[in-house]
Amino acid sequence: MAERTLIIIKPDAIQRHLAGEIISRFEKKGVKLVAAKFMQISEELAGQLYSVHRGKAFFEGVVKYLASAPLLVMVWEAEGVIDMARRMMGATFGYEAEAGTIRGDFGCSRGYNLVHGSDSPESAGREIKLFFSADEIVDYTLADADWLYGKND
Ligand code: RTP
Ligand code: MG
Repeated sequence: MAERTLIIIKPDAIQRHLAGEIISRFEKKGVKLVAAKFMQISEELAGQLYSVHRGKAFFEGVVKYLASAPLLVMVWEAEGVIDMARRMMGATFGYEAEAGTIRGDFGCSRGYNLVHGSDSPESAGREIKLFFSADEIVDYTLADADWLYGKND
């Protein structure tokens, strides 16, 4: 059963010309893009996205960072995509993230870590609704779906 996750290419990744590289990793993995918006968000919306972190020392900083410049918000769909995307992103801090992951390959900052991904089905459902209405998520079939996912499972 296909799952959906919210992935954000954060302001530092846009400014560092890494959007294509990050999208490419999900495309090559075979994940399906079903929604996307390029936008600059308010601190209020950034605060809603990270509401579980309200009160923590880094909360204000992460809210200002996310609202500071444009970002690319996307919904990607595949079986198991929530955990898969988190493994592709790597650990939160770039200097701790494994080589081969997005954060491990392209950054060594704490907070400026290039990409956001939902961390559970509950978070994904809540976060997707913050950015997209149901009719903005596109239902379609990739032409090579049989070769990407196999026909015999
Ligand atoms: P994300 O939600 O963006 O996918 O990141 P995550 O799950 O790996 O990390 P999380 O604990 O949810 O933290 C949210 C974002 O806040 C910033 N942060 N800065 N300076 C710090 O100690 C610190 N800790 C977290 C990061 O941008 C992190 O992605
Ligand atoms: Mg998180």
